[in-house]
Amino acid sequence: MSLYERIPNNVDLSTDKRLLRALEHWLPNYMQWWSDMGPEGFQADDVYLRTAVSVEAGGWAHFDYVKMPDYRWGIFLAPPEHDRRVGFGDHFGSPVWQEVPGEYRNMLRRLIVTQGDTEPASVEQQRLLGQSAPSLYDLRNLFQVNVEEGRHLWAMVYLLHSYFGRDGREESEELLERRSGSSDKPRILEAFNEPIEDWLSFYMFTTFTDRDGKYQLLALAESGFDPLSRTTRFMLTEEAHHMFVGESGVRRVVRRACEIMRETGDDDVRRQGAIDLPTIQKYINLWFSLSLDLFGGEVSSNAASFFSAGMKGRVQEPKYADHLALEGSYPVAGEEIPLRNAMNEVLRDSYIEDCEKCLERWNRVITEHEIPYRLRLPDRRFHRHIGAYAAHRFDPAGHRLTAEQWNERRDEFLPAAKDFAYIRNLNTPVMEVGKIAHWISKPTTGIHGMPFEFEYVRREQ
Ligand SMILES: [Fe+2]
Ligand SMILES: [Fe+2]
Repeated sequence: MSLYERIPNNVDLSTDKRLLRALEHWLPNYMQWWSDMGPEGFQADDVYLRTAVSVEAGGWAHFDYVKMPDYRWGIFLAPPEHDRRVGFGDHFGSPVWQEVPGEYRNMLRRLIVTQGDTEPASVEQQRLLGQSAPSLYDLRNLFQVNVEEGRHLWAMVYLLHSYFGRDGREESEELLERRSGSSDKPRILEAFNEPIEDWLSFYMFTTFTDRDGKYQLLALAESGFDPLSRTTRFMLTEEAHHMFVGESGVRRVVRRACEIMRETGDDDVRRQGAIDLPTIQKYINLWFSLSLDLFGGEVSSNAASFFSAGMKGRVQEPKYADHLALEGSYPVAGEEIPLRNAMNEVLRDSYIEDCEKCLERWNRVITEHEIPYRLRLPDRRFHRHIGAYAAHRFDPAGHRLTAEQWNERRDEFLPAAKDFAYIRNLNTPVMEVGKIAHWISKPTTGIHGMPFEFEYVRREQ
């Protein structure tokens, strides 16, 4: 099969000789990266995966068994919108760009590379997790997320190859050279250098960090550079499943804790081999605060330039009344900041609102079990390393602490070494069809109409 027949796409790959040549060169390096850094120990197994085969609503996801190295990573853009106009910033109302505007070339490349870098990074962070999966269903979901993050890398590389010439090709190579957690060539953003070594961390990551990804994509989907907008709009259709894996994963851990508390009358569910609600709270504190940092500083001239240029907007820009944002201000850390400079904070606020909804759904499970406990998002000031709050220490309620108080109480707020050790200890793999680990409840439904008791991963014998 020729290269373009192997790659599902809606970008006329068969006639785009330049793109084909670039991909021919990049693809072997990508496959090498996948074999080095993709899920370890499962490359020969048949996994029940969905593959994007077209952009038709409802029909794009094709489900079948596939070995991960044979996954058909494709290139898809959402269909073009007729007469689309720049929706915000200094070019508001003019036709969108189909080619990179020269004056914004560097800015645009940086936006694409920063987004692109997170995609392979998360695969690297999660590469050993399969070995401790609580069920075949969860194992399959992990791999689905992994192959789709691989495809998201392809999506960004497509833009670099098609629109940025030689430096685009160089950036594409570098995306395969950086490594999560490496001291030498780390990934660009900090949360993507933290290892994910247990499943509670994975569910938290897909809830909070993937959701940051969703909000970045929503902001880029508004871009006046049309190919970026169309690419990210299609990525968002896949992202929904990642968020589901995270939110429902945490929900099932919470449910199991509640069930055990009810059944045994023992509030210390660790004695019963499950994960207690206070530990879940500490994990929320950690992953939510790490993810807040990903939005960048509260006051940002970069964010203002992205907006002015029409390259990165707000979530659902059309719902705002004023698309210029030249007047007015936004409250940031107790001060009023000119709106354009506060765009990171505007995006962060949309994100926090969305996270609150997850917490509500998790708390509903606790309420249903009549347990007097509530999970909470920590205050935005808590445990920040970037921006206005990074210089000081705060508790999860947002009260300022001295360095000494922080050191004394840190393990109350964030998972301590012994918490991580406990969670990791639970992670013995369960690979039998229909079985599940003791510390998490079964999902209410399976994938694509299949029951939970389905062989989602056929292990190589
Ligand atoms: Fe992604
Ligand atoms: Fe994702």
